Amino acid sequence: MDLVGLSLPLLLVFWQWTTTTGAAVTYWTYTGSVGQSKWADYFPDCGGKAQSPVDVATVQTQYDPSLGPLTPLGYSQHGNKPFSLYNNGHTVVVPLPGWMGLGGLPWQFTAVQMHLHWGNGALEAGGSEHTINGQSSAAELHVVHYNSELYPNMSVAMTQQDGLAVLGVLIETGEEANQAFWNILNYLGRIRHAGQSVSIPAFDVQSLLPSDLGRYLRYNGSLTTPPCFQSVLWTLFTETVKISHTQLMKLETVLYASKEDADRVVMQDNYRTPQPLNDRTILSSFPLGEITAIVIGALCGCVGVAVIIRFIVKTIRTKEPGKDLKQDVALNTTTEPGKKEDPVPPSV
Ligand SMILES: *[C@@H]1O[C@H](CO)[C@@H](O)[C@H](O)[C@H]1NC(C)=O
Ligand SMILES: *[C@@H]1O[C@H](CO)[C@@H](O)[C@H](O)[C@H]1NC(C)=O
Repeated sequence: MDLVGLSLPLLLVFWQWTTTTGAAVTYWTYTGSVGQSKWADYFPDCGGKAQSPVDVATVQTQYDPSLGPLTPLGYSQHGNKPFSLYNNGHTVVVPLPGWMGLGGLPWQFTAVQMHLHWGNGALEAGGSEHTINGQSSAAELHVVHYNSELYPNMSVAMTQQDGLAVLGVLIETGEEANQAFWNILNYLGRIRHAGQSVSIPAFDVQSLLPSDLGRYLRYNGSLTTPPCFQSVLWTLFTETVKISHTQLMKLETVLYASKEDADRVVMQDNYRTPQPLNDRTILSSFPLGEITAIVIGALCGCVGVAVIIRFIVKTIRTKEPGKDLKQDVALNTTTEPGKKEDPVPPSV
């Protein structure tokens, strides 16, 4: 037997081994032994240099006047065919019809699905994936599209650098219920367990988006779940949408990450923590960085003026006869750490 004859069965065995073990580790969760800190062990891209989500430091964003308004295409022409709602064990997914797409990007993008990320019902706890200046929102909506100008379908596109475009919408809680979100939230009780799906009436997907589609942040990133492919052109709207506290509670308590016949695991905190920005730039479609700089500048200016006024007042006071010495001591003591504010009367 020659070498090739020997190695072929070996190769087959090896191939089988890799595919079976490959299948075993496609299981992942947000916490625990296959939680987000371990994702990169099983899905190498999750340890890449251009991962999502990220924290947006608004002062460091760069205004790009060429970023025009985004146009959802066919989002409101939902037709009569029902949508479906699916619990995939990680989130609730709504597959979107192929006539929905996005205009205003370098290529034509076709809608694939939308899903949500959220927290755990604790007050003030996070839930969004992207954060702004370190601040989380309560939840986040993602509308996923693939580059249909260059690639035949989602599976091919998701592995390509310019394959996907995702819209990110930050969700906060407000006083009033958001009627558009009831189109999803009303049916969660029918898909409590992983693997379940339900048919729901079609609705206007654009009504889930903020009204201002002209102000957004843009950067190159990744899928926020394994396999974390770095194929996403992200658009994060700066206007948030509001849902009521009751609606948020529903999202955070109704679903299970577990299958119907398994021990129940509540689907909560299904968000990835912000990843290092590394050498990426976050662009803004409007002068956000400059505005932030002006606000901070103005605040610093006010503080500066206050400090100057205080100094002048102090200087005038020290000029008052009989107070010179005491004031000097006061000024000296405050510069020494650990000493009390009250100056000890000088023993002259
Ligand atoms: C996507 O397109 C590729 C190439 O045309 C094809 O081989 C594959 O089966 C398609 N996948 C799906 C899910 O349609
Ligand atoms: C994303 O990456 C592409 C290709 O490297 C580049 O041309 C584009 O300017 C990047 N976009 C942003 C927003 O950084």
